[in-house]
Amino acid sequence: MQQKRVLSGMQPSGKLHLGNLIGALKNWVDIQDNYECYYFVADWHALTTGYVNPKVIKENTIDLLMNFISAGLDPNKSTIFIQSMVPQHAELHIILSMITPVGWLERVPTYKEKQQEIQDKDINTYGFLGYPVLQTADIIIYRANYVPVGIDQVPHLEISREIARRFNYLYGEVFPEPEALLTEFPKVLGVDGRKMSKSYDNAIYLSDSPDVVRQKIMTMMTDPARKRRTDKGNPDICPAYQLHKFFSSDDELKQVSQGCVSAGIGCIDCKKILVNNVVSRLQPIWDKRQELTSKPDLLMDIAYEGSKRAQKAASETMSIMKETMGLI
Ligand code: TRP
Ligand code: SF4
Repeated sequence: MQQKRVLSGMQPSGKLHLGNLIGALKNWVDIQDNYECYYFVADWHALTTGYVNPKVIKENTIDLLMNFISAGLDPNKSTIFIQSMVPQHAELHIILSMITPVGWLERVPTYKEKQQEIQDKDINTYGFLGYPVLQTADIIIYRANYVPVGIDQVPHLEISREIARRFNYLYGEVFPEPEALLTEFPKVLGVDGRKMSKSYDNAIYLSDSPDVVRQKIMTMMTDPARKRRTDKGNPDICPAYQLHKFFSSDDELKQVSQGCVSAGIGCIDCKKILVNNVVSRLQPIWDKRQELTSKPDLLMDIAYEGSKRAQKAASETMSIMKETMGLI
């Protein structure tokens, strides 16, 4: 039986942090054996907000690709590529833009939110409004069944389903309606207890050195009730414990949480366990990064091979689509 198709992408908007790893990448890595997977760097999407400085996008694209591979995406299992190297996405985007009502786009919650949030750039553009149309093209050009995304992307996926449905209704059944594959892990918290995010400056990055990781975790916020070593704590409200849940074993979790509620363990010792586990989890990623940094050609070869494979799948869909529409 043919495997179902999965597609997902990430914008190259700078360094990746533990939240990206836990919330998305790990999931992408884990499902590689179960689906036919397409993973890509959405460099055109980064232009919607970063068009003033495309050079930065280029650098971040290479860096994101490096993170993909070092975190365990395997070019022998998955098709890993760069959006701008598969121009068929743009072609499908044009067609979809003809059938997508402007009202649908204006109603996407992230549209208004982002416009209010981003004050330092002019994003009152045609391209920014059309962000979800391009995203839809990314997905349905592979006739993908599932899209592993975080909960914040659900409104975008909803509009992708609507656009696919509208195409199928107008011209004939070509595109499956893509479904979200949600990650179960809750939002990862940063060192200050807020959601881990680049914009809050509270993130632990995959590119941080072991010393920086140690220092960030050792000064990370804990249950504020534990001012002294003898104060009892509640791990459920401690951001450090939330990281423990991801990086530590069941036995360690039991030991730490029992120690926390009974004041049997101090925050320093508790965090030392966490540091060790985070560092040993990241070590293979750091090693792989190191290896890739010394072989820049390898990365470009992967992008080139992956994009070629993606182009083949994309152009098959484009032919079917054009025939169904009666364009050829
Ligand atoms: N919008 C996604 C992000 O902000 C990136 C993205 C672009 C994407 N195209 C996609 C995600 C298609 C999933 C499927 O990171
Ligand atoms: Fe958090 Fe650990 Fe301190 Fe408890 S002991 S408050 S879980 S750091």
